[in-house]
Amino acid sequence: MDTIDAIHHHRSIRRYRPDLVPDDLLTEILAAGVRASSSGNMQSYSIIVTRDRALREQLYVPHMEQDMVLDAPVLLTFCADFRRMRHWLRLSDAPDNFDNFMSFLIAAIDATLVSQTVALAAEARGLGICYMGSTLANCDQIGRLLRLPPGVMPVVGFSLGWPAEDPAPRDRLPLDGLVHHETYHDYSDERIHEIYRDRERQGWARYMSYPELRARIEGAGVANLAQVYTVIKYTRESHREYSATVLGYLREQGFLH
Ligand SMILES: Cc1cc2nc3c(=O)[nH]c(=O)nc-3n(C[C@H](O)[C@H](O)[C@H](O)COP(=O)(O)O)c2cc1C
Repeated sequence: MDTIDAIHHHRSIRRYRPDLVPDDLLTEILAAGVRASSSGNMQSYSIIVTRDRALREQLYVPHMEQDMVLDAPVLLTFCADFRRMRHWLRLSDAPDNFDNFMSFLIAAIDATLVSQTVALAAEARGLGICYMGSTLANCDQIGRLLRLPPGVMPVVGFSLGWPAEDPAPRDRLPLDGLVHHETYHDYSDERIHEIYRDRERQGWARYMSYPELRARIEGAGVANLAQVYTVIKYTRESHREYSATVLGYLREQGFLH
């Protein structure tokens, strides 16, 4: 498949066949993934491959009990990692400037770029993936289970395996609502309504099609899709709590000097 067709074919896969991913295939997609650009070619990331069932059972809890952690044969956790580079600096009598927030951001960008390149490589071979935001939200618990030493911080992760579903592609906001030519053009109320019109309809229909979610939406008196996002899915309390977790673990892992 042509690269652009393959990209358009993407959809998150949450149901998996139990079949294993062969070692050579996993190596092939990881080797393709690390061709991603990285800041200064420092490759300030590490990729943790988790296949062990018992470990996935432990990770299931901080991953918010998402079934794909157990059902997919592989879980990949992409970590911001300056530990390896700093070790090399130390051995080379070079100054170490990478214990600060800027270093974390650089490493987090490297980790995210490599994750998406691995994702595309996996999809090109017929595998499916689904990112899990729990990787960052519960980075401290996940970091401890994966035995991450200081200087290493989980950023993004996804399940990987053979799809047992073929979901319809999810909508995207219209391109002209996302792209600004030359300089930023702020949005009028009318423009916002236009950009979100189809999303409001399709997203609402999607959430209401899940009986459990529908009951929560109705129970909370939620009236539209925007309210689903911030009354049900991403509440102020949860975001404050996750912010505190991320900042606390960044401090613990030595990224806030
Ligand atoms: C950083 C990140 C975190 C995500 N976390 C979750 C998650 O925890 N659970 C889940 O089912 N999907 C998760 N997703 C998948 C998104 O819901 C999905 O990409 C989006 O709805 C668009 O659907 P598509 O990927 O099928 O096009 C995540 C995606 C990203 C990029």
